[in-house]
Amino acid sequence: MIVNIITLFPDMFSGVFSESILSRAIQGGHLDVRLIHLREYGLGSHRVVDDTPYGGGGGMILKPEPIAAALESLPERGHVILTTPRGRLFRQADALRLSSLNVITIICGHYEGVDERVSELFVHEELSIGDYVLTGGELPAMVIIDAVARLIPGVLGKDTTISGDSHYHGLLEHPHYTRPREFRGLAVPEVLLSGNHEQIRAWRREMALRKTRETRPDLMEHSLAGSEGKDED
Ligand SMILES: C[S@@+](CC[C@H](N)C(=O)[O-])C[C@H]1O[C@@H](n2cnc3c(N)ncnc32)[C@H](O)[C@@H]1O
Repeated sequence: MIVNIITLFPDMFSGVFSESILSRAIQGGHLDVRLIHLREYGLGSHRVVDDTPYGGGGGMILKPEPIAAALESLPERGHVILTTPRGRLFRQADALRLSSLNVITIICGHYEGVDERVSELFVHEELSIGDYVLTGGELPAMVIIDAVARLIPGVLGKDTTISGDSHYHGLLEHPHYTRPREFRGLAVPEVLLSGNHEQIRAWRREMALRKTRETRPDLMEHSLAGSEGKDED
């Protein structure tokens, strides 16, 4: 998958793409990240990318011309996403949907946001990563790419299952334990040591339902309709 990222701060991405699974995804040819520095498409000798809002009010708005020029410079634009707290909430189902695309382009906003005409002319969807406001779209872009990349076939190791992950079927995941069997007076639940896969499956499902009920009751209706009876392993 080609991921174009239009940003005023390309250096912010160096860490996230040079470590661990994302780095391996790039080296393995599953992910081709292309950073486009918006400043290079700024206007005039000062490379201006922002201006004051029509109608007054504080803050600066990213101008449409540099973003248009950056988008039009791309050999392949694919599915264009604008990161914005005004967007639809990005969920696991979106990550799965995006992971099947060949090319996506993410526009990182900054300051007060982006001139609305960019959305009207170029953007296929506006995504928010949560109900809070960050300083820029770089962290949301990293979140989206990370969630999408791990779903591209071949990116995670063969031993890693994604179908049991939290949110995959709408439920939160069951708890995990590893060695030692007892830690500071707390023992690993007996059922996990039983070797009885049917019982382990049933216990995990019960724990997933309990955790979801306690922590995210809003997910329950959706998950019961969508995942009852599905194998979580
Ligand atoms: C300070 S924010 C602008 C917030 C805007 N004035 C508003 O109230 O909707 C600057 C940029 O950060 C990014 N951003 C901030 N919070 C975000 C979120 N929750 N999800 C996605 N992008 C976000 C967007 O790209 C946005 O244009």
